[in-house]
Amino acid sequence: MSDTAPTKRLYIKTYGCQMNVYDSERMADVLSPLGYGMTDTPEGADLVVLNTCHIREKATEKVYSELGRLREMREERLAGGGSRMTIAVAGCVAQAEGEEIMRRQPAVDLVVGPQAYHQLPELIARSHRARGERLSADFAPEAKFDALTPERRPTGVTAFLTVQEGCDKFCTFCVVPYTRGGEWSRPAADIEAEARSLAEKGVREVTLLGQNVNAYNGANEQGAGLAGLARRLAKISGLDRIRYTTSHPRDMDDALIAAHAELPELMPYLHLPVQSGSDKVLKAMNRAHTAQGYVRLIEEIRAARPDMAISGDFIVGFPGERDADFEATLQLIREVGYATAFSFKYSRRPGTPASAMPGQVAEEVKDERLARLNALLDEQARAFNRSQVGRTLPVLFERPGRHPGQLIGRSPYLQAVYATAPERLIGQIVPVRIEDAARMSLAGALAQELEPA
Ligand code: SAH
Ligand code: SF4
Ligand code: F3S
Repeated sequence: MSDTAPTKRLYIKTYGCQMNVYDSERMADVLSPLGYGMTDTPEGADLVVLNTCHIREKATEKVYSELGRLREMREERLAGGGSRMTIAVAGCVAQAEGEEIMRRQPAVDLVVGPQAYHQLPELIARSHRARGERLSADFAPEAKFDALTPERRPTGVTAFLTVQEGCDKFCTFCVVPYTRGGEWSRPAADIEAEARSLAEKGVREVTLLGQNVNAYNGANEQGAGLAGLARRLAKISGLDRIRYTTSHPRDMDDALIAAHAELPELMPYLHLPVQSGSDKVLKAMNRAHTAQGYVRLIEEIRAARPDMAISGDFIVGFPGERDADFEATLQLIREVGYATAFSFKYSRRPGTPASAMPGQVAEEVKDERLARLNALLDEQARAFNRSQVGRTLPVLFERPGRHPGQLIGRSPYLQAVYATAPERLIGQIVPVRIEDAARMSLAGALAQELEPA
C-alpha cells in the first residue's frame, strides 16, 4: 500500500454479489502501490475494471453491452488525442468465459478470474508490453489471500470481509461452483488481523462473506466453524456488530444457532435461501434439504433467537415446476414469514445440469409466478417493518441522508433507518424510536437526550 498521491485513475464497476464488492475493494488495494487512485466515472480513467457476475443470463449480457460502450469511449478519446484506456474484465464472467473474451473482444486488454486478481499488476504490465499471457483464471484462493495485506482502507463504518470462498454444493441451476471453485476457508488468525485493522479505522460492523459462509471451517485454535470465528471476532474492541452471508440450510449447525442465543454482537438477521417449497423441485435442484426440514430449522433458530429476521432467495420456473410446486413455495413463505427476500426467474446457464433438463418453463408462466411471489413477499416485508413501529431500536448510523440534518443507519434487522441526527453520530449505535415504516425502510427519532459534543 502506498500513501503517495495517485498518478493514474482507476474505475471499477462492480456487478453481482457482496463478494464482488469485497473483491473490488481489494483490487483497488492491490493497484494502489502502482499509483492508481479511484475515480467514479470511466470517462477519464486510465484503467477500467469490470468486476462481473455470471449468475443469470441478464447479468452476463450487461457486461458485454458495457464492453461495447467502453470500446466506443476509448476510440473517441484516442481520436481526440486523449490517453489510452486499459480495459480489464474480472470476476465470474472472466472465469467462465475468459478465453472467449480474449478471442472475441479485441477491446479487452486483460482478463482475471475471482481467485487471481492479486496478479493484476503483472497482467497490466504484460498488456502494456503487448506480450505474455494476459488471462489468469487460477483457482487458488490461498495464493490470493496470501498476496493481500491484512491492512484495509475502509470507506465507512461498516465493511465486508470475505472468510470463505467457493462452493461444493453444485445446485443444478448454479454456475458458482464453476466460477469460484471449491469450498475453501481462510485461517481465523488472518481474518482476525483484517478485522482488527478495520476496527482500528472506525469500522463498527463487519459482514463476513462466503458463497457458503456457514460452511466456514478455517483453522481456529479458539473454536471451530463459523460460530468459533464469530466468538473470536466479537472480542475485538470497537467491533460491535457481526453479520454473515450467504448461508446454506445444510450448514446451519447447532453451534451457530447457539451462538445466536449467546453473542449479542451476532445480529438477529439471517439470509437463508430455500429456493423452493416443493420437495420434488428441491430434489431436482440438488439442494439436499426438504421444505419441512427448512421450516423446522427456522423454528430451531427462532427458539434460540426469537426476534430473528429471516431473509431468503427464491427461484420460480425451475424446469419441471408445476402449479402445485409453486403453490408449495407460497405455502412455505406463509409458514416462515420473511422479513425480506430476493426472488428470481430461473435462468438457463450453460454447462449446468438444469439447463439440459426437460420441462423448461415458459417465460410467461415464470413472469406470472414471479409477480405472485413478489406480491406475497412484499406484503410480508411491509408487515415486518410495520411491526417495528413503536419500538426503540439500536441504530448504527452510517452516512448522511438526502435531506439536510438527516442520517441513515441500520437496525439490528438490517432495515435502513432514517432519523434527524447530528453528523457526529455517524459510527455510533444510538437508540431510535421507530415512528414510520415503508417497504424498504423505517423512519424514527433519537430516543434520548444526547450529551453535548
Ligand atoms: N450461495 C448462495 C447463493 C448464491 S447465488 C446460496 O446457496 O444460497 C444467489 C442466488 O441467485 C441463489 O440463491 C439463487 O436464488 C439465485 N440463482 C442462482 N442461479 C440462478 C439461476 N440459474 N437462475 C435464477 N436464479 C439463480
Ligand atoms: Fe450456487 Fe447452490 Fe453453491 Fe449456493 S449452494 S453457490 S446456489 S451451487
Ligand atoms: Fe455473481 Fe459470481 Fe457472485 S456469479 S453472484 S459475482 S459469486
